Amino acid sequence: MKTTHTSRIGLVRAAVAMLLALPSISVLAAPPSPRAMEIIESRCALCHGREGEAASAVYPRLAAQHPDYLVKQLKDFRDERRKSETMSAMAKDLTDEDVGHLAAWFSSRPAATRRIGDTDLAAVGKYIFTKGNTYSGVAACETCHGANGHGTHQLPRLAGQHPAYLETQLKEFGNRARNNDNAIMHSIASKLTELEMRAVSVFIGGMQ
Ligand code: HEC
Ligand code: HEC
Repeated sequence: MKTTHTSRIGLVRAAVAMLLALPSISVLAAPPSPRAMEIIESRCALCHGREGEAASAVYPRLAAQHPDYLVKQLKDFRDERRKSETMSAMAKDLTDEDVGHLAAWFSSRPAATRRIGDTDLAAVGKYIFTKGNTYSGVAACETCHGANGHGTHQLPRLAGQHPAYLETQLKEFGNRARNNDNAIMHSIASKLTELEMRAVSVFIGGMQ
C-alpha cells in the first residue's frame, strides 16, 4: 500500500517535471491533421522544406519558430496585412484550424544551424545585436529577441535564420514594405545602415 502510494507520488512528480521541462508538450502531443499534413507536403514543403529547414536562402526557416508568431504571420498573409504575393496565395484558403496545425508542426521541428562565413562582419553584427548603436539610436536586438535570439511567444526566433531573408526583412521594415508589426521594427530598421543590416544578419544566421 505504502509503496504504491509513494510510487504514485513519484509518477505525479515525474509528470509535473516533464510538463515544466517541455512547455510545448501540447504541440508535441497533437500530430497535424491529415488535411494539414497534406497541405505541408503538397505545398509548404516546396519552399520551406517538410521539416521547415528551407533549403534555399530566400525562403525563411520555420523550424523551431514560436507557434503564436507563425499563426500571426499566416493570418497576416491570408488577410493581406503582411504583403507577399507568394505567401498570400499560399495562405488564402487556410482556415484558422489549418493555421494552428501548420504552426504547431513547424514549431515542433528542430532548429538547424550553420557556420558563420565572414567572422569580421559577424563581429560588427554581434555589437549591434548586443549593444545596438547609441549614436543613431538603434536599440540592442537582444532586449526584445533575447540574448540567444530565441525570441518569446510574441517575438520571433531569429537564431539560425537565413541571413539573406533577415536582410530583406530589415530593408522592408525600414521602408515600410512590411508594416504588420505596428511599426516597432520600422523605428529600428530605418536607423540601420546597409552595412549594419548585413552584419547583424550574418551574425544572427550563425546563432544557435
Ligand atoms: C513558392 C514558395 C513558397 C511556398 C510554397 C510557401 N511559402 Fe511561406 N514564404 C515564402 C516566402 C518567399 C516568404 C517570405 C515572404 C516575405 O518576403 O515577407 C515566406 C514566408 C513565410 C512565413 C513567415 C516566416 C517568418 O519568419 O516571418 C511563414 C510562417 C510561411 N511562409 C509559412 C508557409 C506555409 C505554412 C506554407 C504552406 C501552406 C508556405 N509558407 C508555402 C515562400 C513560400
Ligand atoms: C522593441 C522590441 C524589438 C527590438 C529592440 C528589436 N525587434 Fe525585431 N521584432 C520585434 C517584433 C515585435 C517583431 C515581430 C513583427 C511581426 O509581428 O511581424 C520583430 C521581428 C523581427 C524580424 C522578422 C523576423 C521574421 O522571421 O520575419 C527581424 C528580422 C527582426 N525583428 C530583427 C531585429 C534586429 C536585427 C534587431 C536589432 C537591430 C531587432 N529586431 C530589434 C521587436 C523588436
